[in-house]
Amino acid sequence: MIPQSQSKFVCIECGESYSITERRYRCDCGELLEVIHDLSSISSDVWRHQVDEKRGEVAFRRYLDILMPSLESDAVITLNEGDTPLYDVSEEFASDLGIELLLKHEGMNPTLSFKDRGMVAGVSWAKNLGCEHVICASTGDTSASMAAYAACAGGMKGIVLLPKGKISQEQLVQPISYGALTIGLETDFDGCMKLVQELTAKHAIYLLNSMNSVRIEGQKAIGIETLHQLNWKVPDWFVIPVGNAGNISALGKGLRELKKLGIIDHLPRLAGVQTASASPLYKSYRKGFTALVPQVADATKASAIRIGNPVSFKKAVRELKYFEGVIEMVTETELMNWKARIERVGIAICPNSAVAVAGVKKLVDSGIISEGEKVVVLLTAHGSKFSSSTMGYHDNAENRYANQPVYLPAELAAIEKVLKL
Ligand code: F0G
Repeated sequence: MIPQSQSKFVCIECGESYSITERRYRCDCGELLEVIHDLSSISSDVWRHQVDEKRGEVAFRRYLDILMPSLESDAVITLNEGDTPLYDVSEEFASDLGIELLLKHEGMNPTLSFKDRGMVAGVSWAKNLGCEHVICASTGDTSASMAAYAACAGGMKGIVLLPKGKISQEQLVQPISYGALTIGLETDFDGCMKLVQELTAKHAIYLLNSMNSVRIEGQKAIGIETLHQLNWKVPDWFVIPVGNAGNISALGKGLRELKKLGIIDHLPRLAGVQTASASPLYKSYRKGFTALVPQVADATKASAIRIGNPVSFKKAVRELKYFEGVIEMVTETELMNWKARIERVGIAICPNSAVAVAGVKKLVDSGIISEGEKVVVLLTAHGSKFSSSTMGYHDNAENRYANQPVYLPAELAAIEKVLKL
């Protein structure tokens, strides 16, 4: 049963609106939709107090009246996602960066990526609509998350389309073990994304990529929870890796809504970061946000953001303009060195997240981020999902922060020799 609806779909281009109960991903004009809620009953002081009282509840339920008020709290299908750590590593990197650096670790979610924040919304909504089959294309994390939440929903079948050979082993095993139909296709992510759109236009299978704007509503929780952890004191920057551009769109939308409701008093700036191998948004930004020119994305260690034709490009550009945003680009060496450096302080991050940290360094060096500014980087997945790239880095002594393992015969003397005892 869908409760009296406080939400509707609205086209980001022509403004046409549709019922939230439709299984719809685009406007009839072809553009993306966003979910607009009636938030008029929310008063900022009362709300801030209420969410403090609800600290014991799962994050999605705690912020439900801003995230998805049309969903009943007891209809939420949750794996206890959220309440991820916000690490302060300002001191550790003070001499390199000279900023306040906070890392919001979304890899500490149930399927080890930020995708769980959107999937709690997407799969709960799918169940609410009575969907029996859910599907997504993925670079590995969306598929893991969707498969887990579909399994948790009971009786819901997950189907995932993956670019064969282009995701990590740890990511691949997740949908398999959660019981999803796991299909590897001889194409890249953009090819999978094209096919999943064709399939869901033709058949009654519910699409759970981030072009389904209900997912975006769930992902707003990342920014909202970060602000809550900061006691609603707004940092200067949020920095985030960008692939299909859903997450940066969600971050922007959530923060805009907080500001409109008076829960925060001003807006931070946003910075998106891409790799040299897959940088369509960066290229557009450099020319003043010109129209998207899709590219064939090359191989990169940041395989989860190997995307040449980002579906949420227009939404992302809209948010970037609103937040005086910038886009940076980093190389493979830069991102892998920063991954190693962050891990040296005990925080396991994935290559995709390291793209954002490497981007911070470049933005500091170019003076776009100023000395002393407070910067929150969204780490999007856990380092353990990418063990082969990590091992490859450390196995090669030429890498700047390589920590090569030592293999010895099982003899005391051999160990003592290495320890110089
Ligand atoms: N970081 C990680 C670890 C990701 O898995 C993704 C996207 C991103 C960053 C970029 O987020 O696409 O919203 O800009 N992964 C998708 C997937 C594409 O299929 O798992 P985005």
